[in-house]
This record gives sequence, C-alpha cells and structure tokens, in this order.
Amino acid sequence: MRTKSGRVGILPILAYILESIKNPAGCGCRDAPRLCFLRCPVVDSSGGRPAGLAGSVHLSVEPGDALLDPAAVVPTADVTELLTFPPERRIHQMTSYRLGVLLGDGIGPEIVPAATAVVDAAVASAGLAPVDWVDLPLGAAAIEQYGTAVPESTLTALAGLDGWLLGPHDSAAYPEPHRSRLNPSGTIRKHFDLYANIRPAKAFEGGTAVVPGTDLVIVRENTQGFYADRSTYAGTGEFMPTPDVAVALGIITRPAVERIARCAFELAGRRDKRVTIVHKANVLKLTTGLFRDVCREVARDYSEIAVDDFHIDAMTVHLVRRAADFDVIVTENMFGDILSDLAGEIAGSLGIAPSINASDTHAMAQAAHGSAPDIAGRDVANPIAMIRSSAMLLDWLAARHGDDRLRGAAVAVERAVETAVRSGISTGDLGGTASCSAFTAAVVDAIEAVRLGAARGGRS
Ligand SMILES: NC(=O)c1ccc[n+]([C@@H]2O[C@H](COP(=O)([O-])OP(=O)(O)OC[C@H]3O[C@@H](n4cnc5c(N)ncnc54)[C@H](O)[C@@H]3O)[C@@H](O)[C@H]2O)c1
Repeated sequence: MRTKSGRVGILPILAYILESIKNPAGCGCRDAPRLCFLRCPVVDSSGGRPAGLAGSVHLSVEPGDALLDPAAVVPTADVTELLTFPPERRIHQMTSYRLGVLLGDGIGPEIVPAATAVVDAAVASAGLAPVDWVDLPLGAAAIEQYGTAVPESTLTALAGLDGWLLGPHDSAAYPEPHRSRLNPSGTIRKHFDLYANIRPAKAFEGGTAVVPGTDLVIVRENTQGFYADRSTYAGTGEFMPTPDVAVALGIITRPAVERIARCAFELAGRRDKRVTIVHKANVLKLTTGLFRDVCREVARDYSEIAVDDFHIDAMTVHLVRRAADFDVIVTENMFGDILSDLAGEIAGSLGIAPSINASDTHAMAQAAHGSAPDIAGRDVANPIAMIRSSAMLLDWLAARHGDDRLRGAAVAVERAVETAVRSGISTGDLGGTASCSAFTAAVVDAIEAVRLGAARGGRS
C-alpha cells in the first residue's frame, strides 16, 4: 500500500474505518488487556478508559525500511542517550522492571494506556520479560477518593519502583484548596529531587513542523528558579501580604545550576557539541545572571563544546526563525517550561513533545503538555508525546542498569512512531485523521512487524 514516495495512501485508513464499522464493539481479539483496549472500542467507565473508536491500522513495513534494518535497532535515536550514568553509579540489571502508572486527568487516561501498550510491545520485541505495571492514584480521582491529589501512599509506592509514567493533571480545575497547592508534578519532582527535565523537540518527516529540521533538546532546571511554589522547604515562595499585593520569589543557587549545566554539556558532547544558555540577565541581573555565569564556568570543563547565550525574549524570536540552528538549550525552570511548549509546536505540535524528569536515582516520564481539557474524552489526543516520554524512561533505565535490551526497546518505540507518521498516519494536530487509539495501534503494529521480520531472519 505504500506509494513510491514512501507514504501510505487513503486505503489503509478506509480499511481501518470499515473495520471499525464492521466491529464497533467487538472484542474478539486475543491481545493482552492493554493492547486490547487500543484495538477494541469497548469503554470501561469504571477504569476511566476513553470513549471513541479504536482499531488497528496495519502498517506495511517493507524491505529497505529503516525499521527492518538491524543497524537501526542498535544506535542512538532521538530520545536515547539523553542521560547517562558513569559505570560506578550503575546498578544491576533486572529480570523485569516495575513501573508506576499515574493516569492523571483530561487526556491522561487516553495517552498513558497508549504509552504502556507501546512499551509492552517494545519490551517484548527486545526479548525482555513483561513490565510489571503498578497503577497508582493521582489527580482529580485521588482528590475524590483520598482527599488529596497526591496521596502519601502514592509517593511511598513510587519510591520502591524502577520508574513511572505520569499523565498530565488538570490542576487549574481542581477544587480549592487543592488548586492553590503545589500541583501533582511539582509535588513529585520536589519530593524526589528530579532536577533534570529533558525536553527534546524534533521535527518528523511527514509531520507539520513550523521550522523543518528542528532537532534540539531543552535541558530545564526543574527544582527552583522562577516557579516560586517549588523552591521552598516549607510553604511556598508565592504569597499575598494583603488582598491587593502578590509576591513571588525567584531562587537560583550555584549547586543547582552546576548540576543542570553539567547535564547539558554532557548531553551536547553526545550530540552536536553546542550549548545555548537562556537567561534574562539584562533585567534579572543577580538571579539569571548567576545562572548564566555558573553555566559559563562549567563550560570551561568542556572545551570541545561551543557556547552562546541569549535573553529569553530574544530566544523566542530565534526559535521561530531558525530553530534548526540550535542543539542543546539550558535554562531555568519557568523559561524552560515556556520555551519547550514553543519548541514542541515549532517541531510540529505540542502533542509530540516528550520529556523525562530525572535524578540519579529516580525518573518520571511525562509529556511536556497539559491535560488538554478542550479535547479530553474524544480519543483525538496525540499520544506521541507520552509514548516518546516512555521511550526516554526506557533509555534512562538502560543507562542506570547498563541494560542494552532496554535501549533497543527505546529505539524500537522511536522508530515505530517515526514510521507511522512517515506513512501518513497521524492525529488531527499533525494534520491527520487517526484517533489516539488507532495511531497507537499503528505504532504497536510497526513494532510487531519488526519483531516478526527479525524472527523470519531479518529483511523480508
Ligand atoms: N505537566 C502537566 O501535567 C501540565 C502541564 C501544563 C499544564 N497542565 C494543566 O493542564 C490543564 C490545561 O492547560 P492548558 O490548556 O494551559 O495547556 P495544555 O497543554 O493542556 O493545552 C494547550 C493546547 O494544546 C493542545 N494539546 C495539548 N496536548 C495535546 C495532545 N497530546 N494532542 C493534541 N493537542 C494537544 C490542547 O488541546 C490545547 O489546545 C491546566 O489545568 C494546567 O494546569 C498540566
């Protein structure tokens, strides 16, 4: 069905629609429960599963396709080797990995199961034992059941896991007093000191990039800066002394800048060897000035890396005009949050922007975007950001445990997503017509096609 240009035409999409009409609720498949959820349009309201059509779009992976090229399975992909561990900090390989699942709110219950289904397929294709998924309460459902958006039992359970997937939260819609509290991702990042928020923005072939060729990574300091609510030991750095006066503190410390700067320079050393420091030192001279200066000091240890710096306002212009010129961007918490939404959209859509939040001991996969309440419950959200975030988690686990099979699984996810988009299957934000579940099924199919191809002896 693939045309000479490598695109799949309208036929597979029609076939998918026909299949869905033929079997609108038919759960006759023999897939594992998480994959069945994607293929079968049965809604389990008690489990918060999304409404909407699901089904399978069968991708034809053909001889010569990069997915079938054994060389493509081993080396780096865009979400791999973003973080590494020196051998002395690695811990042992595991027979199987235990990962937490926090669905979150809004589109979370649609995109998080999409990511777990893709991870299941990738882990199987890499020859690993199935992931032991641990469902944990968080968000609006947890407020109802436990009286708090992040129950203490959730934090305790997370501490014992190898990593976890966090869906977006709709914290702006929580009832008071929960809305005024530190939001769930801020709570978890602070609790586990997940200081590095790594947010790649990469344009897809066949996608809708504003600046084609965009391939950059934002390294965002995740624990302090100008998000005043997460910089304090107790209470918050945002307060109102009177009803008409509001104050927010911005905090930058040398140790926090040093560790995030090292993360950025190490990463640039594995990429194009360029780091851009983003600050606002012409106005916030002491705070963001310290950020810029400490990054410049750290740069002295990395003489092979080219360094420049820009004010945050000018940086938005540079990104819109010439995002493809940038490699690694290091910046403080709030600037990084804003720039990464912009970079995601420049690369094609906020819906494809992944991220990982990591320390040396814990990691959390989390899409860069929010809960998208405007499209929630309609099975139209783009799951790519959450899927690629999960691939980043697999890669972090690969580095931490020295387990190359996990890196293979991360690469398989990345290649399968690229293949699906390149084949002309995408969600509405990328200009396509596929539902969230149909796109996910296409990614799973692409991974399985590679596994079957490999089982048949490589190229078919
Ligand atoms: N990390 C997080 O969980 C996180 C991050 C940002 C915002 N939020 C919360 O999310 C809620 C909504 O925030 P918002 O509307 O400002 O930002 P948002 O990121 O949820 O949505 C912005 C726009 O992008 C679109 N979008 C986002 N993700 C998409 C996807 N996967 N596929 C297709 N389109 C997508 C939305 O439909 C919307 O038009 C708020 O409660 C906010 O506090 C949470």
